[in-house]
Amino acid sequence: MAGQRRSIDLVLPHLRSLDGYEAVDPPEVLAERAGIPASELVKLDANENPYGPSSKVADALASMKDAHLYPDPAQGAMRAAVGRYIGLAPEHVVVGNGSDEIIDLLFRAVLGPGDAVVNSVPTFGMYEFTAQVCGGRIVAVERDDGFRVDVDGVLAAARDQGAKIIAIASPNNPSGNLTPREDIERLLGSGCLVIVDEAYAEFGGASVASLVPERSNLVVLRTMSKWAGLAGLRVGYGLMDVELAEVLMRAKPPYNVNQAAEAALLASLADADALMERVRLIVAERTRMHGLLEAIPGITPLPSEANFILCRLPSGKARDVHERLARRGVFVRYYARGVLADYLRISAGTPSDTDRLIAALTEALQA
Ligand SMILES: Cc1ncc(COP(=O)(O)O)c(C=O)c1O
Repeated sequence: MAGQRRSIDLVLPHLRSLDGYEAVDPPEVLAERAGIPASELVKLDANENPYGPSSKVADALASMKDAHLYPDPAQGAMRAAVGRYIGLAPEHVVVGNGSDEIIDLLFRAVLGPGDAVVNSVPTFGMYEFTAQVCGGRIVAVERDDGFRVDVDGVLAAARDQGAKIIAIASPNNPSGNLTPREDIERLLGSGCLVIVDEAYAEFGGASVASLVPERSNLVVLRTMSKWAGLAGLRVGYGLMDVELAEVLMRAKPPYNVNQAAEAALLASLADADALMERVRLIVAERTRMHGLLEAIPGITPLPSEANFILCRLPSGKARDVHERLARRGVFVRYYARGVLADYLRISAGTPSDTDRLIAALTEALQA
């Protein structure tokens, strides 16, 4: 009888078998695992900003008066502020519940069942995850041994598979390297929607956002999670062709960015100079951490244009070192599988975070 059908039988088959996204655990869970108070954690596993948001954000949240009203579905104030910050007309901007939501909106707008996304791996997991959610198909093209995008390989895969989307994180998570503008220009020649995810752009200083008005198939993603310390409030944006932006504005959930996130974004952009001072501190700490890591026998840190460093460990050691660090309350990102099995990704934190990391890592490698 139809009335007795199980809800799971109604779910699309490709979603029934979906692996969930491997997200990071919150501090209280990590603290319990390490058996220490959350205040003593060294949390370097999610590329968060150790200095938190601008102090202007707390003021803006405290003076929010209209929480009983829906936020502006047209995102008027946010689109104007982001447009000013980036130097583009507001019509190019779409704001999301994190840039993750912009990935979701773009993929839903473009991918039909079975359509291909070319992914330049290893990279941020959200492109593969979202392609799967949308019933699309991921075509993975390996980066070279310096984690550079194999531009010829990506172009060939896009052509052979009739791909709709090419996704490139620049700087790449987890390798930290930028993709040169010439390579992005070549990828744009494919005619695919080329998504350049610049979540870490403020730490590296390079961006292709200025190409957006002249290159209709380019989308640039940015986020307030990293440089502005707003990961917990969820606000990011996409910069894209005006017609595509109009489609996303119509197709998105109407109130996708809540008022607290909106207030935080506006206060942060008004305080961008102070936030960029902290970005400079984080970049300086990344440089110091790189030197200290390099001095530990067996560790090879890669150069980075982001707020984290990917490190190669002696073969077969990464799992054990990751566990030993966690027992000492130091959390870094471990990948378990594939080409990254011997690597750990470590976010740049405060100077005292780095000192505790280096002490724990030295001990863990000696044990
Ligand atoms: C490359 C990349 N893009 C996007 C995101 C997610 O950004 P948001 O917090 O805006 O969803 C991350 C987060 O780690 C990332 O590494």
